[in-house]
Amino acid sequence: MKITETAKMLHTTPRTIRFYEEKGLITPEKGENDYRYFQEEDLWKLQTILALREVGMSTAQIKASLEGDNIQSYLDLQRSALYGEWIQIKDMITTLDQMIGESPGHEDLLNLSQQLKEVKKMRKSWKDRWNFDEQAEEYDQTIKTTGYRFNVHEHYHVALSKVKDWVEPKPEELGVDIGTGTGNLAALFMDDGTTMIGVDQSEEMLKVCLKKYPELETRPGHFLSLPIMDHSTDFVVSSYALHHLPDAEKELALAEMDRILNDDGRIAIADLMFENEKEKQRILAQFEQEGNGEAVDAIHDEFYADLSKLVNWLEKEGYNVKTHQFNRILHLLYAEK
Ligand SMILES: C[S@@+](CC[C@H](N)C(=O)[O-])C[C@H]1O[C@@H](n2cnc3c(N)ncnc32)[C@H](O)[C@@H]1O
Repeated sequence: MKITETAKMLHTTPRTIRFYEEKGLITPEKGENDYRYFQEEDLWKLQTILALREVGMSTAQIKASLEGDNIQSYLDLQRSALYGEWIQIKDMITTLDQMIGESPGHEDLLNLSQQLKEVKKMRKSWKDRWNFDEQAEEYDQTIKTTGYRFNVHEHYHVALSKVKDWVEPKPEELGVDIGTGTGNLAALFMDDGTTMIGVDQSEEMLKVCLKKYPELETRPGHFLSLPIMDHSTDFVVSSYALHHLPDAEKELALAEMDRILNDDGRIAIADLMFENEKEKQRILAQFEQEGNGEAVDAIHDEFYADLSKLVNWLEKEGYNVKTHQFNRILHLLYAEK
């Protein structure tokens, strides 16, 4: 088929097709007088390219996804990127509404814009200092519940089971596991037929997770920019992940969970936390006294939550909250609307 017929059939223009050829996305056969001839395979490829352009992928991304023959993972990434932009636009509209509605003075405008700037920065600035991609293959073997001087995984399995007990999932429900890692928590919920989406910022963790649980839907994404629609989820769970976010970002993470939850949604987080700042100092002093420098260093290296702050935020937003302590550093926070 020649270029004009091809363009007509695909509702595009010969110029667009030539552009994709120049970018190396397609290589149609050339005949006499340099006429291009498009075979069936070229038509499929062109159709794919046009579809991917329509959802906003760049030509470079399309080229990489066609060459790697891995369109699905590029679509996943594109979805997460679009969610990120959409969430940012919503933040901007909310600020604009406040600017318009409250007829603020110059100083208020400045404050509102500063707040918006802070939120934008927070949503984008998180970096994986722990290199979870590199930990992915070995992660499950590193979960040892005994035998370490400072054992963050003591009560790991008990805690994950209790998350499920408190959430009481129903088979027709949809749940999201944030920082799903290799999917251990999500899998407990799927055992009873509940549909789960596992979100994680680490591509390699999600690969291992999918190998273990091919039936789990995984999405690349971030606590502060979840690739999930508003009010579309029955519950949100998370284990051993929130403590990778600095304190200032944790409330924004709770707000993201709240955004995706239905009106009677539940949140359950099992994580490394202290009841409050005073308890943190007391327990740190205990570890010091015990000569457990490993514990002190580990606590300083991560961002164990102040549970009282999370509880305050959730109660302020109208949640009923209950908590459970497994050991000195591991707590479960449960909240329902
Ligand atoms: C210690 S692993 C826990 C995995 C799993 N939830 C479990 O309980 O075994 C922490 C996981 O959280 C993910 N994670 C850390 N910070 C994150 C963030 N800001 N957004 C999304 N995932 C994050 C990491 O990539 C990693 O897979």
